Amino acid sequence: MASILVIGSGLGGLLAAVRAADAGHRVVLVTKSVLPESNTRYAQGGIAAALFRDDSVDAHVLDTLRAGAGLCDPAAVRVLCEEGPARVRDLIRFGVDFDRDESGVARGLEAAHSRSRVVHAGGDATGAAVEAALVATVRRRAAIEVREHTMLVDLILDRGEVVGARVLGPNGGQLSLAADAVILATGGAGALYTHTTNPSVATGDGVAAAWRAGASVADLEFYQFHPTALAVPGTPLVSEAVRGEGAVLRDQLGERFMQGEHPDAELAPRDVVARAIASQMQRQGGAPALLDATALGRELLETRFPTITAACRAAGLDWAVDPIPVAPAAHYWMGGIETDDWGRTSLPGLFAVGEVARTGAHGANRLASNSLLEAAVFADRAVRALGQPWRASATLDNATRPHPLVEPAVTAIGTSSANLGTLVNRETLQQLLWDHAGVHRSGVGLKHAASTLATWSAPDPTSLDVAAVEDRNLLDLARLLVTAALAREESRGAHYRSDFAATRPELARSVSQVRRSHSLTLVPAKEAIAC
Ligand code: SIN
Repeated sequence: MASILVIGSGLGGLLAAVRAADAGHRVVLVTKSVLPESNTRYAQGGIAAALFRDDSVDAHVLDTLRAGAGLCDPAAVRVLCEEGPARVRDLIRFGVDFDRDESGVARGLEAAHSRSRVVHAGGDATGAAVEAALVATVRRRAAIEVREHTMLVDLILDRGEVVGARVLGPNGGQLSLAADAVILATGGAGALYTHTTNPSVATGDGVAAAWRAGASVADLEFYQFHPTALAVPGTPLVSEAVRGEGAVLRDQLGERFMQGEHPDAELAPRDVVARAIASQMQRQGGAPALLDATALGRELLETRFPTITAACRAAGLDWAVDPIPVAPAAHYWMGGIETDDWGRTSLPGLFAVGEVARTGAHGANRLASNSLLEAAVFADRAVRALGQPWRASATLDNATRPHPLVEPAVTAIGTSSANLGTLVNRETLQQLLWDHAGVHRSGVGLKHAASTLATWSAPDPTSLDVAAVEDRNLLDLARLLVTAALAREESRGAHYRSDFAATRPELARSVSQVRRSHSLTLVPAKEAIAC
């Protein structure tokens, strides 16, 4: 029996905690907010898996590889698609009540899938249903100690091995939690951008802490923008499944514009649709595009998409009658902490599962509804790998392993981490990334972002304030993302640069970043993580 510290309470964290407890381990599960709050809870479309007779693992693999724009790790994709159906069946056993129709379990179509394979629950409330079932399961496990309102600050290392984490507790004090292994499941970092479909807890805490501890992070230039967030304050998600049911995109004059962009029109890959909408918005002076779902009829809209119907209603919109305003918003980070196919990072003792991880399953552009699947598959595998000899660097396949980023860019990050400049302001950082490291990028804009970020300083790392700890993380991550985006002089998947608009086949390799020993540490010497 080992002591396992799980950090994060989305699908990856909850499932890892349950699996670890069932395997006989003692588990402490910490989460920044309350247990049910996570990115998972807001997922709408569903979970893609080859569960149906007219589908196959090979077809799912092919669709995932195509969407990933040449950057997927084929082995990770195969693991994802092969083990996905069993993990969906596990979720059913844990109490997720997937929607049914006359044929059995109902399924939807989403962009870039060659067939309908997306299972959903509560219509468009799949994430909420998964979260609720797993939270209830966690609560039934006596071996899991849950600590809410407890935020990761930094990982603790001993001779290069992760042995716990320093956290900010509910009473505002920092404390150390020791563990035989740490499983990070802290999700993405939508808070890097002005507009996001993510909840406010998504501040990339796990990626930032892992990088500071010396873990390898990769693919950080690839941030997926969902094409259709409702263009009202809070930018709630309008699932791709709506377009899968037949909704179309129109400009301000009511004309469809996706047919000229891609043969699959509204069901083109997510990055293509997001860029087309952003370009259309530029042409019409910033006004949002329109998503016309009126042909679907009120009954289907209200039963299949109750969450979106409620969001429209709250904004004073009736989407059964009128097209609704939509715009792209930051949605999912393909990059993250580099792992092998067992969730093992480059640091012994540290696992990463879900959006916080870069498994290689998503490449440059995640296929719709593969995110919950990835969290389930790799959380399960990480727990199976607990207690096995740590062979992460040996098991990372050298053929597909990311290249380390060129040294000068990494040096620039380390140097600019000094607390010398103006204290970072979150809204200004979000606007900077939205303007220069968003849907459309250019070398000039990215250089401006990099030099601006270099003038900002992080809040005091010993701060006892959640917002300050988050801002420190966001500043580190913004620098890493911009550095990676500058280094990739091509356009591929979600990374589009107007100065390098073509895909360059010779750059079909991931890029990783590792903190060099000469980087400045942000924690005082007496508390410094040993690295
Ligand atoms: C959606 O419902 O469109 C989001 C699904 C996803 O992000 O995979």
